[in-house]
Parts: sequence; C-alpha cells; structure tokens
Amino acid sequence: MIEPDISRNLSMELARVTEAAALKSGRWMGRNEKERADAAAVDAMRQVLGTIEMSGEVVIGEGEKDKAPMLYYGERLGRADHPEVDIAVDPVDGTRLVALGMPNAICVLAIAERGALYAWEHIAYMEKIAVGPDAKGAIDLTAPVAVNLQNIARAKAREVDDLTVVILDRPRHEQIIRDVRDAGARLKLITDGDVAGALMAAMDNTGIDVLMGIGGSPEAVIGACALKCVGGDMQCRLWARNDEERALAKENGVDLERIYGIDDLVGGDDVFFAATGITDGELLDGVHYRGKTATTHTLVMRAVSGTIRYIHTTHRLDKLSALTNIQFD
Ligand code: FBP
Repeated sequence: MIEPDISRNLSMELARVTEAAALKSGRWMGRNEKERADAAAVDAMRQVLGTIEMSGEVVIGEGEKDKAPMLYYGERLGRADHPEVDIAVDPVDGTRLVALGMPNAICVLAIAERGALYAWEHIAYMEKIAVGPDAKGAIDLTAPVAVNLQNIARAKAREVDDLTVVILDRPRHEQIIRDVRDAGARLKLITDGDVAGALMAAMDNTGIDVLMGIGGSPEAVIGACALKCVGGDMQCRLWARNDEERALAKENGVDLERIYGIDDLVGGDDVFFAATGITDGELLDGVHYRGKTATTHTLVMRAVSGTIRYIHTTHRLDKLSALTNIQFD
C-alpha cells in the first residue's frame, strides 16, 4: 500500500546526491565554464537520485525535456513506487560563482510529498522576503522595507541598525537597496545565489537576518523548503518581466498581486532539504580535493523532525567511483 507520507528518513540519501553533484561540479571551479560546472552537477544528481527508493517527479527543475543536460520538469527519478515525492533541484545555485571561483556556490535539493511544492514555471522571477524562526510572523511583502525591518528588529529584540539584509546586487534592486540604507540596516550584496541567501537568513550565526529582493522563482520554492525545515518564514510574489509574462499570467488565471506565504510555497511538513558547498562560503565549506580523497560539507534538514545536520565527509574517490559508476577521481 502507498504510504501517505514520507515515513522513511531520506536525509542521508539526499546528502549523497548533493555531495556527488558538488564533487563533480567543484572540479570546474574558476575555469569560466558555467555550463560545464552545471552539467557535471546535473549528471551526478540524476544518477544518484535514480538509486533512491522513491517515486520522484522533478517539479522544480532546470528546463524542458530534450534540452539536455537539464533535470527537466516532469522527469521521473527513483527506483520504487513509493513514497511518491516532488523533487526540487538546483544542481548548482550560483553557476557563475563556480565559474569564477567565488564564495557560496552550492548544490541544492529538496523533496516533499507529492503535490506539496508550488510549481508554476512560467514566470521566472519572484519578489522575496525571508527570515529565520526568530522573526517568523514579522514579515509582510506588501509593507515598506522600513516597516519590515522595524518588525523584524522588534521580533529579534534588536535595533534596525543591528540587522543585516542580503540582496542580489542587481540594477532592479536600486530602490530597495536605497530603502534598506535609509532605514539604517546593514547590507550584504551578493553577486549570485539567493538560495544561499535564504539559507543565510534562515540559519543562526551567519550574521544575516533577512533576504530581500527579486530572484528566481525555482530558487524561491527551494529556499522556502529550507525555511520550512528550520521554522523560518518567507513571502513571495510573482514578478513578471514583460507584457508577455503578464499576458501568460492572465491567460492562466494567475494573480500577480497574490502573496505566497511559506505554506503556499511548500505545503505540509514532509519536507527534506540538502545542500553541499561547492566553493567555500559563510555557511558551508566548498569541496577540497586531496589526491585520492576529497572532503565535502553538507547541510541536511527535515521539517517533520526539525533536525538540522551538518555533515563533513571524506570521500575515497576511487572507491566512490567504483561504487557509483561515476568517475570522481
Ligand atoms: P544560476 O546558478 O542558475 O546561474 O542562478 C544564480 C542566481 O543568482 C539565483 O540564485 C537567483 O535566484 C537568480 O540567479 C537571479 O537571477 P538573475 O541573475 O537573472 O538576476
């Protein structure tokens, strides 16, 4: 009989997936080959995901079928009939970060029960605001930046000028950056990687209190999975870039004013999240190669238990290659 929930703890299996992807992708660090860095991660992810006892469907992926090497929407992965799960992948969040050897590139994967993830892939961007558990309930995407910062500061028993906001450094964020500065908060501008940005806001001891700004829609849902696991909070709104996207939304009855709360982005608590560092960052160490071995640093979380695991792994590359049929050395 098909079980209604993901009763098995998939954490270690997911960690193996993101570890494999990071081990492959990390070889491309600094080589200015972002597609190859991504393709390496995709191939490894697909192969290891295929070995997991589950019936998975990629609902947040990289693109369409026949546009290899993407893990495409609707791709089925796993080698069993159950549990039936939604898979959300970002094989490399920050392909440019890998290509240029910059910090905070990660391999990311989330799994939730079938139908739990918000997956409308036709609008590429979303406005986002995300905070950790200590500011849950204090955010409102429809309110001015200053009001959000005051509410977050109050929830954390701090002053606004103690807060640090992480925002993608983009021309579209000129106003929001000005608003943050005017409100008196500190700012961390990142060149790429707003899943890592959401994670920084979610986790303790990163020095980041909130993620704001517009980034990828798939990344929004994946970030929401991480926030679900730690009990954080997130609100998003689709951000159409042009008339074509606005028309598409209208045709499909999608309300561009709608605010998606964390439970709209990720339903229920049967959610797993895994991320492995590719390049060194605030949150995770990157892959370090040492001849016959390599080390990885992974974060795995499960919403239903609230468990957060950091895993430092040493891989014997020859043995791992033999075991998985993936060439790691
Ligand atoms: P890729 O790794 O797919 O290149 O995405 C990096 C990223 O920075 C995401 O983290 C973010 O959501 C998105 O790109 C922002 O898009 P854009 O670079 O178009 O502003």
